Amino acid sequence: MMIKNIKGTKDLLPEATHNIQDIEKHLNQFMYIHGYGEIRTPIFEATELFQRSVGENTDIVNKEMYTWEDQNGQSLTLRPEMTASVVRTYIQNQIWKTEPISKFYYIGPSFRRERPQKGRLRQFHQFGIEALGSMNPEQDAEVVSIAYNIYKMFGIQNLQIKINTLGSDNSRQNYEKDLKASLLKFKSEFNNTEFERLEKNPLRILDSKKENIQNIINQYAPNIMDYISIEDQKHFDEVTNILKSMDIPFTHDCKLVRGLDYYNRTVFEVISNELGAQDALCGGGRYDNLVKQLGGDSIPAIGFAAGMERLILAMKLTKNQNMETDIYIVNIKQELINNSMKLADDIRKELGVAVYLDSLRRSLKSQMRHANKMNAKFVIILDAETIKNNEVIIKDMNNNTQQSININNIISHFTSD
Ligand code: HAM
Repeated sequence: MMIKNIKGTKDLLPEATHNIQDIEKHLNQFMYIHGYGEIRTPIFEATELFQRSVGENTDIVNKEMYTWEDQNGQSLTLRPEMTASVVRTYIQNQIWKTEPISKFYYIGPSFRRERPQKGRLRQFHQFGIEALGSMNPEQDAEVVSIAYNIYKMFGIQNLQIKINTLGSDNSRQNYEKDLKASLLKFKSEFNNTEFERLEKNPLRILDSKKENIQNIINQYAPNIMDYISIEDQKHFDEVTNILKSMDIPFTHDCKLVRGLDYYNRTVFEVISNELGAQDALCGGGRYDNLVKQLGGDSIPAIGFAAGMERLILAMKLTKNQNMETDIYIVNIKQELINNSMKLADDIRKELGVAVYLDSLRRSLKSQMRHANKMNAKFVIILDAETIKNNEVIIKDMNNNTQQSININNIISHFTSD
């Protein structure tokens, strides 16, 4: 029986990875000019790390993690997100002791056992940033504006930023208590899952997509803004003021709460109406208590993560790019294989350009057809007759002209062009 890839995972062939490499190149440059350095952490961690950060009562930890027991009995998990790992290594290396502020970015795979659909996979790729050390509103505004400007850089239209504040732990707990009490009056409207959610993680009810639940929330749920402290309100006002002065458009959505437990104060999402049901391009927020909670000092932090596959959907990169080359060496004589291999290597080393060689020993015609398909700028033809005089034919594919050149002059021919 044929072995297939696992549901919710994707194979990417060179035509598709080409696009992703291009996106990564832009991201690397973008992060560099914003002062964020790349961090790479392992794709699996101790299960406890996610239980203690993302939270026991979240959907991710409850039912979406790929967890197994290692041979030594330790419970391990494929990372469902990367913030926890960044914080783990930050604490392990006690980075705050030498660096008062750390700005990291990452790109890599994450794993969640969700029901696959458009824009939702079981192995997906995230890029994101984490800034650890500053509690000031300009740090929040920087993170939000970076998220927004990345999508602008990639030409995404119809972007919307939703932003909210959850206040401090205390205000969030009071809010959760009152929210639960107000919604429990409508118990009969909730199905089992929703009821369980309301019991264990009431904030999650706020982003229910069901109309009857939304109606109840709109009419009867308390507003989180009535629970936050004066300092939280001031912090939020400063964040939004900076965003306004940077011309970053946003809407304050007081029902935005996010699905992970570690957040406090600022939370935000960038959404696009190009995406359908899974409309969040990225999401993030403050997690000022997480470093302490996982055993470090009290270090404030904020970040976001974005789905690479959702960015690609929004970019409408449906057209895959063909493999291309600069120079295609056509050789149809077996006895000239050594010459063509050596020539290809010399050109790559000397000129650093892409050189493609056929290894199927195909006819001249099919090699020329392939060179065309690969958009080769030049074709070098090793011909049994001309090679006797040490000459090859160079065809300029753009001008459709050709000339004979001494094989020893090929490099200088291209450099003097
Ligand atoms: P998240 O909202 O769970 O946040 O995920 C961030 C983004 O990852 C989503 O907006 C979405 O684009 C993408 N994503 C999530 N799940 C899937 C999936 N199953 N398939 C495809 N794409 C997906 C976090 O992960 C937090 N760590 C963000 C953060 C960083 N908060 C602070 N720092």
